[in-house]
Amino acid sequence: MLTFRRATLEDLDAITEIYNEAILHTTATFDTETKTIEEQKTWFFDHDDKHPILVAVDCEFIVGWASLSKWSDRCAYTDTAEVSLYVKKEHRGKGIGRQLLETILREGQEAGLHTLIARIAEGNEISINLFEHEGFELIGVMKEVGRKFGRLLDVYIMQKIYDA
Ligand SMILES: CC(C)(COP(=O)(O)OP(=O)(O)OC[C@H]1O[C@@H](n2cnc3c(N)ncnc32)[C@H](O)[C@@H]1OP(=O)(O)O)[C@@H](O)C(=O)NCCC(=O)NCCS
Repeated sequence: MLTFRRATLEDLDAITEIYNEAILHTTATFDTETKTIEEQKTWFFDHDDKHPILVAVDCEFIVGWASLSKWSDRCAYTDTAEVSLYVKKEHRGKGIGRQLLETILREGQEAGLHTLIARIAEGNEISINLFEHEGFELIGVMKEVGRKFGRLLDVYIMQKIYDA
């Protein structure tokens, strides 16, 4: 059975394994070097009640994670966060990503966030459609801002405003 809960430090190995696979094999993230657990701890502790990290758990195994990260340390941005969403490769296409996204969207609203941003690389139609379906609107395209696997990439900026 699939469940969703707040991530703990003990989940960090599994979260990192999923993220590092995406770094090495996808343009979903513009990181190009895999993360160490020490680097991931810094990322983990930069989250809090208002900026949760959730994991999707299937039969005690972590099959995906999502986070709401601070958009900026500048205080006026305090009610804005950026969404990240990753499902373990062999578990994609089974509805986990959608449920994880819906769960973290609810948490963000309950935490008092006002707006969420998602940055999605060109070609990631699955994510663009998924975020659109969950109320995100395409608000702009940053042209040719990334270079990965020898290709220049655009980044689509999507935004959801709660209660809009
Ligand atoms: C994007 C991602 C999180 C989606 O998670 P998922 O569990 O595979 O997605 P779901 O099974 O919940 O499907 C969500 C929607 O995408 C569609 N979809 C999923 N996989 C698909 C595929 N391979 N081809 C076409 N459509 C697909 C589903 O049909 C569903 O749409 P629907 O409800 O209209 O039918 C996952 O593919 C992933 O981790 N990708 C790599 C990281 C990434 O791109 N993250 C997003 C950037 S922030």
